[in-house]
Amino acid sequence: MPKKIIAGNWKQNGNLKSSVTLTKGTISALARMKCKHEVIIFPPSVYLIPIQKLVSKKIKLGSQNVSAYDDGAFTGEISASMLKDLKVNYCLVGHSERRHIINETERALSGKVTRLFENNIRIIYCIGETLEEYKGRKTKTILRNQINSLIKQNKGNLKKHPKNLTLAYEPVWAIGTGLVPSMSELSDIFSFIRSTLNKVDSCYSSIKILYGGSVTPDNAAELMKTNHMDGLLVGGASLISKKFIDICSTI
Ligand code: PGA
Repeated sequence: MPKKIIAGNWKQNGNLKSSVTLTKGTISALARMKCKHEVIIFPPSVYLIPIQKLVSKKIKLGSQNVSAYDDGAFTGEISASMLKDLKVNYCLVGHSERRHIINETERALSGKVTRLFENNIRIIYCIGETLEEYKGRKTKTILRNQINSLIKQNKGNLKKHPKNLTLAYEPVWAIGTGLVPSMSELSDIFSFIRSTLNKVDSCYSSIKILYGGSVTPDNAAELMKTNHMDGLLVGGASLISKKFIDICSTI
């Protein structure tokens, strides 16, 4: 069976002590269960250094954010080459909280993706519709636009390294709400994303697609039954090592 991806996005939560404890607990539980999947944790940036010292082959390290610019006068930003220095393996781009709360533009997202490709850091690129768009039946239009914009700005890099990109379908209305799309909605959307990618270029068939939004140990196994589903992006439930491990063990 090809490796699935289980990613834990800690967002802006925890402190140094709790982050170290969560990392250690997650790593030892993964070792005990002999987990064969690709498990990634995304701690807050300030804890990347202490956590990098703890990560082993059992777990990959991800950053929640990256600068759209190369090194230079960009106060407060962290560049892709700095992340590479820390041996960060993955970075999130396009998460709905950054699109809708921080107001990041497609242009900024595309700059981030380019910098990550240049530094050989794998990208988990989030796409998804708002509740209003969902109710207006605009989900597929929104997803098509988000995918096309991503591909248009990064065609060359994507063609060379399609495996460096993973998509995460995260309906904005499902994040932190306890709501999840029905199984038939998910299967329709995953087929749509897969065929949209294939239509652009056959080389994009290797791009993995994850689901994120209110994933729990109770719904993870069911969600994973969706066709074309390559893994899960977990928010709230990744902050409690038992819940995160339970999700990993159901896959
Ligand atoms: P949630 O968050 O699991 O807490 O809904 C998912 C995410 O934002 O990636």
